[in-house]
Amino acid sequence: MTRDPKPPIDEAILQLLRERPSAFLSGEEISRRLKVTRTAVWKRVRGLRDLGYEIEGLRRSGYRLVRAPDLLTPAEVKPLLRTRWLGRKIHYFHTVDSTNSKAYELGLQGAEEGEVVLAESQTGGRGRLGRQWFSPPLVNLYLSIILRPMIPPQKASLLTLMAAVATGEAIQKYSGLHPLIKWPNDILLRGRKVAGLLNEIRSEMDRIHFVVLGIGVNLNMERRRFSREIRGVATSLKEEMGEAVSRKAFLRCLLEEVERWYETFLREGGDAILEVWREKAGIQGRRVNITSFGERLIGVAVDVDSDGALILETEDGKRKRILAGDVEYPRKENVDS
Ligand code: BTN
Repeated sequence: MTRDPKPPIDEAILQLLRERPSAFLSGEEISRRLKVTRTAVWKRVRGLRDLGYEIEGLRRSGYRLVRAPDLLTPAEVKPLLRTRWLGRKIHYFHTVDSTNSKAYELGLQGAEEGEVVLAESQTGGRGRLGRQWFSPPLVNLYLSIILRPMIPPQKASLLTLMAAVATGEAIQKYSGLHPLIKWPNDILLRGRKVAGLLNEIRSEMDRIHFVVLGIGVNLNMERRRFSREIRGVATSLKEEMGEAVSRKAFLRCLLEEVERWYETFLREGGDAILEVWREKAGIQGRRVNITSFGERLIGVAVDVDSDGALILETEDGKRKRILAGDVEYPRKENVDS
């Protein structure tokens, strides 16, 4: 795991260069205003160029920012955020094993509610049920959010539904497309998975220490780059919209939606979330095939209960409460979003 060497001086230099976008700023002025040596400025400018920033440098005039890459560095992301508390502290990595593992570690060390771990790529991205999450660099979004809700641990699964609603809303607002939520928390566009959520919890019997909401969204991934096993079932926002997605703009939208829906959940309770979740999932009354802990079940999805469990009526008329598993819609039931 590599911690990105991203001292705040980079952010400060970019901020100064952005103040007067078309003008040059001398190295001397930057060093004076940031109280660092001119050599330090020169070195950091070189570092920024390595990260993909196009910075013009003229011996007599100084530096000018020509173009910023679509990176998710705090320097790029923070000025865009419209959230009040979520993402105000971002732990940024170029590469990390898993943002969820990193966020969990930070949670144990006392990280506060709303801190976010963001990475350009993951070497061990984790999906639900022990699966891997394909996480190539610079094309998608991989983030984990630390929350510390004062709710009973049994209600924590509602946060998964809350995160699915928020991610669905963000996709809808950004693209104008209508995603479908597949229980418990896959987000589909035209029947293919565009985003997934992996939420993890640290708790005692009656108290949550923290929750990590892990969100992966395929943004600019091209279909041919998905592995053969998932090519038929995965998609990206770019593939569905037919145009490239600004990862920064999407991230801003996503954090805003998570903040909004989390606050709604705390204020109004799980029912407010369930109502929207049901609307976006459209699962009630549909025939489903479910694989849960190695068991294959067929029946009709009756509803999702107040703990986020799926209620299934099996073919022999019995009702089963399913806590984890994979849902499949039989072919003729496949519904385009
Ligand atoms: C799934 O659908 O199986 C869940 C996928 C969750 C992937 C995200 S990417 C960011 C965060 N870090 C991880 O290791 N996993 C989640």
